[in-house]
Amino acid sequence: MSEPRAEATRIRDHVQRLGERHPPVDLASADYSLVDPAAVRERFGHVMEYMARVEMEVERNVLELATLLPGVSDTDRAFYADVWGPQEEHHGILLDTLTQRLGMPPVVANTGEVPARVRVLGALAHLPVVHEVIRLLYYLTGAATEKSAMLAYQAMSDGLGEMGETAVKRTVVDAIKVQEPGHFAFYRLSAQEMVQSGAISGWQLHLARLLRSRSYGLVGAGTREQRADFGGVVVELGLDEELERNVRDISRVETQLLWAHQQGLQVPAYALAAFRDAAAMYRERRGASVLAA
Ligand SMILES: [Fe+2]
Ligand SMILES: [Fe+2]
Repeated sequence: MSEPRAEATRIRDHVQRLGERHPPVDLASADYSLVDPAAVRERFGHVMEYMARVEMEVERNVLELATLLPGVSDTDRAFYADVWGPQEEHHGILLDTLTQRLGMPPVVANTGEVPARVRVLGALAHLPVVHEVIRLLYYLTGAATEKSAMLAYQAMSDGLGEMGETAVKRTVVDAIKVQEPGHFAFYRLSAQEMVQSGAISGWQLHLARLLRSRSYGLVGAGTREQRADFGGVVVELGLDEELERNVRDISRVETQLLWAHQQGLQVPAYALAAFRDAAAMYRERRGASVLAA
């Protein structure tokens, strides 16, 4: 039993290091000067608005987490309350400020109410066996979300660089971008630890597969409208050009942990379908608005 304990210590140390090395980005360090605000708004306005909302909604995510996982460990709590939450909150403020500088309205985020779906799962989570399944799904969702954010900020950073917008590239987008891999690593290590230590049984893994494939969701996309908005992020960042490869990257942790028995599976079909549908919904909406104009 020494291996899982060593792994748990490694995760705790990782969280502590993240907290020490990555305090929330200093809001005063951002330089919002722009060479061509209209061009930045045209190319990235929608993406930045979406990302700002998702980053700001961590406030609600923290509430949801407390409901979902009533029995979290000290390491989990330290991560989301002391490290991840405060960092993401500043990411949201930085992006919201930037979009307002581009002449867009303040971002409207849902930071308050916990959805009924989450409350129901939270009630079930008082059963320890279910709690552990939900905990695994929380880590897998976190890994996919953080990897999506890494790809999005990389594409934004590259684009702003090409446009010569070095101030916002460096002090806003890159400042945010460097904090995401540490979040991803936390979720990946935590999910791996649960499965590889044998803490989760065969039927719990089976339940996790079932729930994941039935309830897969794209970050920040609870409604149909928001799914099309998410599709807009995918299309406008050019991530749809190699969609399968990108979704494979985003899903790698769950492919390895949930679907290892399906030899050779590259990417879970439910994940690829969710991204494809969102991109198609966005294109359809864009087509409709062009026709209406
Ligand atoms: Fe973030
Ligand atoms: Fe993050």
